[in-house]
Amino acid sequence: MEKKIHDEINSRRTFAIISHPDAGKTTITEKLLYFGGAIRDAGTVKGKKSGKFATSDWMEIEKQRGISVTSSVLQFDYAGKRVNILDTPGHEDFSEDTYRTLMAVDAAVMMVDSAKGIEPQTIKLFKVCRMRGIPIFTFINKMDRQGKEPLELMEELEEVLGIQSYAMNWPIGMGKEFLGIYDRYNDRVELARPEGDERFLPITEEGGLAVEHSMTATSYYQQALEDVMLLNEAGNEFDEERVAKGDLTPVFFGSALTNFGVQTFLETFLQFAPPPQPRKSRDGEEVEPESEIFSGFIFKIQANMNPAHRDRIAFVRIVSGEFERGMTVNVPRLSKNFKLSQTTQFLADDRETVNEAVAGDIIGLYDTGNYQIGDTVVGGKSNFQFEALPQFTPELFVRVAAKNVMKSKQFHKGILQLVQEGAIQYYKTLHTEEVILGAVGQLQFEVFEHRMRAEYHVEVQMETMGSKVARWIENEEDVKESMAGQRALLVKDRYDRKVFLFENDFAMRWFQDKFPDIRLYNLL
Ligand code: G4P
Repeated sequence: MEKKIHDEINSRRTFAIISHPDAGKTTITEKLLYFGGAIRDAGTVKGKKSGKFATSDWMEIEKQRGISVTSSVLQFDYAGKRVNILDTPGHEDFSEDTYRTLMAVDAAVMMVDSAKGIEPQTIKLFKVCRMRGIPIFTFINKMDRQGKEPLELMEELEEVLGIQSYAMNWPIGMGKEFLGIYDRYNDRVELARPEGDERFLPITEEGGLAVEHSMTATSYYQQALEDVMLLNEAGNEFDEERVAKGDLTPVFFGSALTNFGVQTFLETFLQFAPPPQPRKSRDGEEVEPESEIFSGFIFKIQANMNPAHRDRIAFVRIVSGEFERGMTVNVPRLSKNFKLSQTTQFLADDRETVNEAVAGDIIGLYDTGNYQIGDTVVGGKSNFQFEALPQFTPELFVRVAAKNVMKSKQFHKGILQLVQEGAIQYYKTLHTEEVILGAVGQLQFEVFEHRMRAEYHVEVQMETMGSKVARWIENEEDVKESMAGQRALLVKDRYDRKVFLFENDFAMRWFQDKFPDIRLYNLL
């Protein structure tokens, strides 16, 4: 492979920011884009209050709710690296798209609100990252406000998430008394309110400041020093290999809003975040990023980006090689070739046409209904496929039907396409074949209803079933219909596999006690 392409690939850093809503994901993204020169003012990505919306706000529903439903991709250059941030929906009604986006990144940044600690949505997203074994970097945000004690937050990481941590820096005070950070990794103190030009003060080998500064007299500084001593003695050691495997999370404290600690975070993160990683094919072969052959997989399909056209865009994570506009690729699932002339790349507010992209990048392919989530696209004469993307266990269910029975054909066509796109999961009752939809977030149902009306002209009637605990069955042949009941509904999924929908965990345990021979399992 040419050196130029080798360098291009190795400059890529592709990651997602995971957090519970309101932890500050949008705010830090803006700051990162600002450092990368992709936006002029930090504060223009998503004008929640000003009413300015980015192009990602492609649907009415987003405007109505003032949120970005879909993930977009932001790209910028910084310090010789090309950074791709895959945005994940920032609302608590998040969807499977959020999970699948995590299949397409090489690292994750976990934002934690210092006052709230680890919140439920963070836990769910963290689990997906952990399952993939990708490095996870933690940014503890809002240090300009009074929050939990830093040691308590470190403990929470280990206890709630079960991941070991290494504090890259340590806050000196917090809230109104937030004086700065003691940067263990870079051996310097970064001042929140520098007097004159001195923002960084070097630290000596013994751990003290190399220069005199009034801050050293404060109890906050003394406390920070004490905590750092404790971490040095009793904390984990920094271990790059364990970071790479996702066993140890480097922790950074800062404040996205006041832009404190963000640039230091970005620089340190870019040192340790991995370049594009290989990915396994279904035959178990590792496909290396620098392979001569272009390959990638579709992790997300987004419809109607432009309401004037009924187009869909398939998002491809490039796994290997180089993409060139106009190239022909093979989709092995369909044994069909496609010429990729219409592609798009995403940069803050503009969708630009992409001519070239390499492993690590995300490109969008215009789709007239050919692609499915999880499809491999591959250049040359190759026809391998990447491992299937995981299906996620839905937690919420509705019964759905067309309001007008005359529209039943349109109804089924709409459902089929939306299910293929991965917008929603499909189930049906055993004999009556009533349609049940499953989702990981409520918003998926709203999007479904909206799109059925807007794109398929079908009004749907949805009856909520609430949350259920869905379990698949290893030994389906041993399941009898008499085992099912009100609290354990038996349905089939889109592949005709039997699934129990339990009313809650209690009902599931009761079932397991009663029928210990039925082996239930959970998808991710
Ligand atoms: P999200 O994307 O994770 O949902 O969070 P977002 O960045 O929108 O931030 C949520 C709220 O937290 C915003 O305030 C934002 O200004 C605030 N925030 C983010 N980072 C910090 C920080 O470091 N310190 C402090 N004190 N606040 C922070 P809001 O008033 O809810 O939103 P907005 O109406 O100002 O947009």
